[in-house]
Amino acid sequence: MHHSPIHSDDLPTNTSQNEHFQEVVQRAVDRRGFLKFGSGAAVATFLAGPLAACGGTSTSTPAASLLGFKAVAASTADTVVVAEGYTATPFVPWGTPLFSSGAGSVWRGDGSDTAADQARQVGDNHDGIHFFPIDGSSSSEGLLVMNHEYNTTVAPAYTDYLTLFGPTPAPANTLERVNKAINAWGCSVIHIKKTAGNWSVVLDSVYNRRITAATPMLLTGPAAGDVKLQTSADSTGTEVLGTINNCGNGHTPWGTYLTCEENFNNNFGTTDTSSDTRTMAMKRYGITAGTSGYAWETQHTRFDYKLEPNESNRFGWIVEIDPFDPASKPKKRTALGRFKHENAAYAFTKDKRVVVYMGDDQADDYIYKFVSTNAYVEGNQRANATLLDSGKLYVAKFNDGSATGDFMGTGQWVELNISNTSIASYGSYTFSNQADVLIHARIAGDAVGATKMDRPEWVAVHPTSGEVYVTLTNNSGRTTANDANPRTSNIYGQIVRWRETGGDAAATTFEWDIFVLAGNPTVTANQGTLKAGSSNVTAANTFNSPDGLGFDKAGRLWIQTDGKYSNTGDYANQGNNQMLAADPVSKEIRRFLVGPKECEVTGMTFTPDGKTLFVNVQHPGESAAGKSTWPDGGTAMPRSATVIISKNDGGVIGT
Ligand code: FEO
Ligand code: CA
Ligand code: CA
Repeated sequence: MHHSPIHSDDLPTNTSQNEHFQEVVQRAVDRRGFLKFGSGAAVATFLAGPLAACGGTSTSTPAASLLGFKAVAASTADTVVVAEGYTATPFVPWGTPLFSSGAGSVWRGDGSDTAADQARQVGDNHDGIHFFPIDGSSSSEGLLVMNHEYNTTVAPAYTDYLTLFGPTPAPANTLERVNKAINAWGCSVIHIKKTAGNWSVVLDSVYNRRITAATPMLLTGPAAGDVKLQTSADSTGTEVLGTINNCGNGHTPWGTYLTCEENFNNNFGTTDTSSDTRTMAMKRYGITAGTSGYAWETQHTRFDYKLEPNESNRFGWIVEIDPFDPASKPKKRTALGRFKHENAAYAFTKDKRVVVYMGDDQADDYIYKFVSTNAYVEGNQRANATLLDSGKLYVAKFNDGSATGDFMGTGQWVELNISNTSIASYGSYTFSNQADVLIHARIAGDAVGATKMDRPEWVAVHPTSGEVYVTLTNNSGRTTANDANPRTSNIYGQIVRWRETGGDAAATTFEWDIFVLAGNPTVTANQGTLKAGSSNVTAANTFNSPDGLGFDKAGRLWIQTDGKYSNTGDYANQGNNQMLAADPVSKEIRRFLVGPKECEVTGMTFTPDGKTLFVNVQHPGESAAGKSTWPDGGTAMPRSATVIISKNDGGVIGT
């Protein structure tokens, strides 16, 4: 996400009376008393700071740490700082040419590249990323596929594009400018190769491809063709132009990429501001009244929600891309539901059906999972190609469990099906059919009483245990706490993890606990309170707003942040946004990397040998021109870019 004045994901659109506004009030009061009097050893040991010293010591022998590197200090420098013995090299920044001749083959560097140029260059605001080995196993050649979430813009709204049109911010007020923006969004497929230790782009590769906010793609699965997906340009309700707000990502065991459409609401507006005609459903998805900051509706009527009220229903999906088939049309998988998708993490059920875990990044929104109808068949690409078109979609309830105040509990997956009487008879919205349940999954979640979470971001599945982790980035507007979201006015965020019953990802119940409550124990006023964070948060690793999340093969949990970088007040000693690694067993967390000024660190992928890590640095210097010159330096405009991390001794990242 980004830190423009319009924090559309910080403000809840969820007006349902689900759990945290009701039943949990008394339990929350009880818990505060519990903490205040410090009578619980479990709470004391969980907390960082002075209270932690009062806690009991662990009686088990700690396992050898998975973390072999020396922690880096917080940094406010306009550069990437990485652990000693490692090297960070910027790679494929916004505007990098993918072809050696024709439009876009030379990056001009002053914002004068045209819309046609941009369509053949790497897009802007890098986010989710995945490395596909060229032959299924190579660690020196592959397809690097990544998301380009949006364009950096400055106050007061999105009318001034910070870098897209040059060093002086300018509005997207012409067709050419809007089209350039459209071509800077979406995804890139980049063929890359390592020669003599250096990675480079294989220019003119047949695999090199830009997928933009105008690329034709298909709607597939149960909602495809539904009347609510039909527009004047597409009476079939099956073909869409483009993918937008591509935030986090996933990948599948059959070698495809999943790109996740997040804040699509920001791209819809209307030039007719005479009256507010938004439906309840549009409001629940955050479509705002009047003109949009991006102003695309001024040039393309499909982004005008009064003229094309169904067009926004065609965004907010997970899109599957086959990077090895450059002619293939991306597919929006409606079976996985429509909301503000952060990322997509797969797992297998015991009988090899495919599960996809997903977070909806909005304050007070939900966590979901999809379970496919059919099983994965190793090597049968034709069968696997439609696995994400049929299955059940569930939403999560996180209950406090047998005790309140112990940061753990039980959970339940509730199927979102029109046959559920809570959905069929929901008073606030009348669902037409199962397609409508998928198109308006948020409202179906409201109907079944899903648990409002502190902005669910990335989900990651442990490679061997199957334990699932999710970042809940923050929720400063939370007024009532529960065990999984234990702080009101939550400015630091937390990571929650769960274990499916019986170790089967198909289960409809689970147990969960908080892995880390982020916080800042260096702020005196925080000490002895939940704002200091859990006991695995220290002065050395303090961070806020966990967002990107992923496991490597060895089971190290990598955490990336998209939070406040003021380095003062509540955020003192936290520095710029960063990437940390955690040991899931010991719960130790160490800072590994710090990004340049005003960036977000997001997206990660490893080569199969674990020796190259690709990380994305998004929107350096986002607040105003001149705040950052990373990665080019001098007087250059800042550019989002990938960073290649390698260990100087050739070893595995994290050791
Ligand atoms: Fe695009 Fe929720 O971050
Ligand atoms: Ca509990
Ligand atoms: Ca994110």
